[in-house]
Amino acid sequence: MLRTEEQKQAILSRLEPTKVYENVVPKDLMSDLLEAWEAGPKNHKNTGPVTYDYYPNKDAHTDWWLKADKFVTEFIGDHWTFATNFYKVDQPHILHNDDSVRWIPDLYKTVVIPLEIEKPTNFAVFDQCYLDGPVKLRHGGQPKHKNHDKPQVYYNQDLLDNSELIGYTGEVFDELLYNKYFTHLPIQRFTGLTVEQIVEWKPGDIIVFDTARIHCAANFLETGIKQKLGYSIFTAK
Ligand SMILES: [Fe+2]
Repeated sequence: MLRTEEQKQAILSRLEPTKVYENVVPKDLMSDLLEAWEAGPKNHKNTGPVTYDYYPNKDAHTDWWLKADKFVTEFIGDHWTFATNFYKVDQPHILHNDDSVRWIPDLYKTVVIPLEIEKPTNFAVFDQCYLDGPVKLRHGGQPKHKNHDKPQVYYNQDLLDNSELIGYTGEVFDELLYNKYFTHLPIQRFTGLTVEQIVEWKPGDIIVFDTARIHCAANFLETGIKQKLGYSIFTAK
């Protein structure tokens, strides 16, 4: 067990609805972030994405980071940041939470800053949470064991049974929603999940949601989008 019942309750008691703030990212911050991505050391993950993982806890504080952190503070208030990462992906993110074994943070908000995409896509946040470490949901599937040689700090473990989620309903997932957004995954993966919100993922906006919640991208490949570039900030309080 990563956290005590008390620590979990503290995180769950402050859950809030997902929020999108439209057209709020200043142009200069956007170009600073794009520049940081271009210049940053790339990590080619064996799960597909190319990332630049920046940890304000241990890496030197760059000007672009100080600017970004000041900017997100306007929206989420006091916090500390346990990890951030840029990601260029050509496959939509699968169901997961954002957690850290290394820091065991009192999870607060994730701030997603979309940077580049050919046209807007969608992003889904679910009512269900998981508070025992970073996981990828593979309900109804087999473990991929892609990351068995990597530290758990950086890679999520496979969760093979959604009944371990907080708020698991046991119901089959809504087929209309599935067909509209999530055909990149088998429908079984969504068993027991309910949508908290589906929002637009588009540069200029930011998406703020509870870091403990399960979330995934919509199947952007279906709409002809080839890749997206974003920056996410994972916070605790
Ligand atoms: Fe995430």
